[in-house]
Amino acid sequence: CVLGVDLGTSSVKVTAVSRTGEIIAQEGMDFPLQQPQPGYAEQDPEDWVSAATVSIVRLILKDKLTPDQIVGISYSGQMHGLVLLDDNNEVLRPAMLWNDTRSTQQRQEIMAKMGSRFVDITHNKPLEGFTLPKLLWVKENQPEIFQNAKTMLLPKDYLRFRMTGQLAIDYSDATGTVMFDVDKQQWSKEILDAFDIPETICPPLVRSIDETGNINEWYAEYSGLSTHTKTFGGGADNACGAVGAGIDGPTKVLSSIGTSGVILKYEPEKETNYDGVIQYEDHAIPNAYYSMGVTLAAGFSLSWFKKTFAENEDFTAVVDSAAKSTVGANGLLFAPYIVGERAPYADADIRGSFIGIDGIHQRHDFVRAVLEGIIFSFRDILDLYEAKGNQFETVISIGGGAKSPLWQQIQANIFNVKVVSLQNEQGPGLGAAMLAAVGLGWYHDIPECAKTFIQFKDVFLPEPDNVEKYRQLHQIYRKIYPSTKEITH
Ligand code: XUL
Repeated sequence: CVLGVDLGTSSVKVTAVSRTGEIIAQEGMDFPLQQPQPGYAEQDPEDWVSAATVSIVRLILKDKLTPDQIVGISYSGQMHGLVLLDDNNEVLRPAMLWNDTRSTQQRQEIMAKMGSRFVDITHNKPLEGFTLPKLLWVKENQPEIFQNAKTMLLPKDYLRFRMTGQLAIDYSDATGTVMFDVDKQQWSKEILDAFDIPETICPPLVRSIDETGNINEWYAEYSGLSTHTKTFGGGADNACGAVGAGIDGPTKVLSSIGTSGVILKYEPEKETNYDGVIQYEDHAIPNAYYSMGVTLAAGFSLSWFKKTFAENEDFTAVVDSAAKSTVGANGLLFAPYIVGERAPYADADIRGSFIGIDGIHQRHDFVRAVLEGIIFSFRDILDLYEAKGNQFETVISIGGGAKSPLWQQIQANIFNVKVVSLQNEQGPGLGAAMLAAVGLGWYHDIPECAKTFIQFKDVFLPEPDNVEKYRQLHQIYRKIYPSTKEITH
């Protein structure tokens, strides 16, 4: 079998998948997120290593996988996070994550210095979430750490480094650093020079299906894995989510709800440029690309709500209680900007709101408003795509949104597009396992692997009356951002 290691923001999940795509076993473990100040989001990279290792040990001891049975491992990772290593490859400071928005000043400095040239090179704007503004924040605020930094890695690449001793990054995560030239497909010398960053800090580039070394002696001893097990490049979580959901052409769009939420489109051409209004990245599929809009707090809004107002209750029961409310949550609207927003508004300072609270409202109305508000923010992203002339036939739903039939029906109605779920949905972990399966030569390429690994399950069709109700509510929702943008933390 192969292991797909999905290093998320709140947990790691390791999924063992057979050569024919059956899920044999899955283990996972949560780890903490540190938010010492508003806008800060950090993790200790050692927590990722421990959680991944506990999951692997459980696969071996509890699920009885033999180490020799595990022939390949690949990775899916939370994007953009900055891990800095010194000369001895020791971690220099906590990792700054994709949802850390402290680098507004650096974002502005980048635009002031390079302007539209930056967008031409990277196909992205330098938003706070991306890696370069974080690196410049360290350079300006912790110069002694920057001086000692010899290597920059992204989260999943740090895990690979500890498991194999190899420093590497795949193209999908490299684009997310915004230090990468999309047209030339190499680190951008022009950007690195402009900000006085030595190119040696950037790890070697590999394709997502390329081999990145075997498990090393130390990790074999630590985890019980075999040194015969090979590892493969892997990819950004959203790229892997798209691979694992069979997003193989431009008429299917991915709706993914993890801590963040994403509307993602496959792009066959690297020449496409949305001027940075929509993110543009290399795919984990060689020579393909994808674009996406990101809602910073999708699953995070729901877990915040549960933690704050329903701490000791079952998560599924809280989500299901939304069925007791109505379409439009009895007049309650929620805007999910609780940690700022990325798309369609690139605004780290905006904060969320409930609008229209009435004395009749009960908690289930608030839950429903949260579910709907997250999808309204996805609708805003679809609007950006549609304004560029795109039409979608199918939305494939993965992550939290795919766990609830009610939430999928809400998506079909707000998108006014058919929503399809997957059999055995495993999110990005399955995509990572597919990269290992192709890397091992089990399949010729990703589309061939997808024919065996991916099966569709339920279909949710738009219901015309509810589509119309949501269309009207979305008009009101769209007014929330301009009316509340003065609200900052
Ligand atoms: C994408 C992004 C998030 C993270 C979540 O640009 O920042 O979706 O990848 O892990």
